[in-house]
Amino acid sequence: MSHSAEPRPMTSRRSGPLTGEALVPGDKSISHRALILGAMAVGETRITGLLEGQDVLDTAKAMAAFGAQVTRHGPGEWSVHGVGVGGFRSPEGVIDCGNSGTGVRLIMGAMATTPIAATFTGDASLSRRPMARVTDPLSQFGARITARDGDRLPITIEGATDPVPLTYRTPVASAQIKSALLLAGLNVPGDTVVIEPEPTRDHSERMLAGFGAQVRSETTPEGHRVTLTGRPELRAQPVAVPRDPSSAGFPVAAALIVPGSEIRVPGVSRNPTRDGLYVTLQEMGADITFQNPREEGGEPVADLLVRHSRLKGVSVPAERAASMIDEFPILSVIAAFAEGATVMNGVAELRVKESDRIDAMARGLEANGVRVEETRDSMTVHGMPQVPGGGSAVTHLDHRIAMSFLILGLAAENPVGIDDAGPITTSFPDFVPLMTRLGASFD
Ligand code: S3P
Repeated sequence: MSHSAEPRPMTSRRSGPLTGEALVPGDKSISHRALILGAMAVGETRITGLLEGQDVLDTAKAMAAFGAQVTRHGPGEWSVHGVGVGGFRSPEGVIDCGNSGTGVRLIMGAMATTPIAATFTGDASLSRRPMARVTDPLSQFGARITARDGDRLPITIEGATDPVPLTYRTPVASAQIKSALLLAGLNVPGDTVVIEPEPTRDHSERMLAGFGAQVRSETTPEGHRVTLTGRPELRAQPVAVPRDPSSAGFPVAAALIVPGSEIRVPGVSRNPTRDGLYVTLQEMGADITFQNPREEGGEPVADLLVRHSRLKGVSVPAERAASMIDEFPILSVIAAFAEGATVMNGVAELRVKESDRIDAMARGLEANGVRVEETRDSMTVHGMPQVPGGGSAVTHLDHRIAMSFLILGLAAENPVGIDDAGPITTSFPDFVPLMTRLGASFD
């Protein structure tokens, strides 16, 4: 289900120092995977800290439709009784993945090697996004797939009856493609191999190993190679979902750009495949301290202490793009307050996210007096001592665009408007109350 169709315009205003603790929600990527692997395991998977954003709720509903028993016990506390690898049944209705590219791509992978049929759909944003990147390799396993023109949703998949193992080089660095193929590989005899041009987030590999699958990763001259041995018995595991470093990026950005701010963001995942924003911010001169490093739920985490900082522009190398792919919208806001230019290289994938994020950020920043240059695969933001603001941004059903411009308005001279705050519920339902408690001014 997508958010309500009625747009909810919102404005943010220059705010006094932000202070206090920001308890950001559970990691979206890990939440999807916990539900899906729980549904493919034998026994009961207990999940704590699950993100209850719309994207993840849609995946929970989908897992129930494929036959798993999914129960909510309390805030963030869920259990999944799985049906085992190959145990999915054909759902009765259409699977609506709402706004979630991760949800639809991973679930298509998870069912494509089981002889059942399912039809997938999504909201207007998801229905514009390319699916051939996943359906092409899934059909090489033996699945029969029909899609709307241009390989868009709705898509119907008849899963392979006798799936054959696959070695596949992904044309772009995408954890969604990799994960879809690894999940498909679970019900295939023999080894499924995915080779990606740059390492992408490795939550699927970590969790698959935790559930008892054999999965190996290595760096080779041809790229980052992941091998999964098919037909394991996945054993249900407790999953403690760490807090989402992508969601943490929003309060962190606000504290960096609003003078006098000092906030704590506890328990944030520091997985190196997700860490690019924080590496970049440190290069820009951000005052961020990582306290109390530890491991939670198989992921490295730390408590972040963030203070307002004088920042300088940097050039972000293309090789880092995959490790911060969802953070470029908020980085481009931070960059508007830095001294000099910030250049983001190798970011063509941003054009096929929930919106064309290069276009959405460039137009919205320009409307607020910031100079931006773009190419097909790069974006340059010219920082300025005072960001004028006073403009409005179009969010195109994209949660991260909506939150980025609300953060911009907290430090700009004049209020910044967005046309629709509704999509924020997909990943960060508590964003407005959480930011307001820190001292942010929204109306
Ligand atoms: C995700 C992977 C990324 C990211 C998305 C979540 C995941 O997409 O943008 O928000 O959970 O695997 P790509 O891997 O397609 O770049």
